[in-house]
Amino acid sequence: MKKAAIIYNSRTGTTKKYAEQIGDYLSNKGVETNVLPIQQYDDINFDNLDYLLLGCWTNGLMFFLQHPDKAWKDFAAKLPNPMKPKTALFTTYKLLAGTMFKNMNQQLNGSIKAPLTELKSRNGTLSGNDKSTLV
Ligand SMILES: Cc1cc2nc3c(=O)[nH]c(=O)nc-3n(C[C@H](O)[C@H](O)[C@H](O)COP(=O)(O)O)c2cc1C
Repeated sequence: MKKAAIIYNSRTGTTKKYAEQIGDYLSNKGVETNVLPIQQYDDINFDNLDYLLLGCWTNGLMFFLQHPDKAWKDFAAKLPNPMKPKTALFTTYKLLAGTMFKNMNQQLNGSIKAPLTELKSRNGTLSGNDKSTLV
């Protein structure tokens, strides 16, 4: 059985909802999936994972300079480098995700190869299009 971890940072619950919807989808596809907030990341053995999905809400000036918040940056800096599992990124936003993925990648500091996919949502609902880019 393939294994996945979905690790998210959420202020008001939208990114948590998105993480949980991604988790439900992967579980239904037969992937053993653990969904958890960044504060619990050290429960995860990254060497045992096939897939890792990292998510954060979009912080910025609404139309520009979108970036993850400090808590997520601190979390990203503590991750193993290089990272073994195939990795995807996700975010939720209100108006524009803009530079969010670029900045998330920068914070990961080369620990992941090119992300498998980048998923974004305004309301935390996993779309049909999102599903088609996952397993
Ligand atoms: C301080 C702050 C800055 C934000 N900046 C942006 C932004 O630059 N672009 C955007 O589309 N949404 C922005 N948002 C909206 C959040 O990214 C959006 O509501 C997100 O879904 C919240 O996720 P959460 O419920 O998991 O905390 C901002 C929200 C806050 C509180």
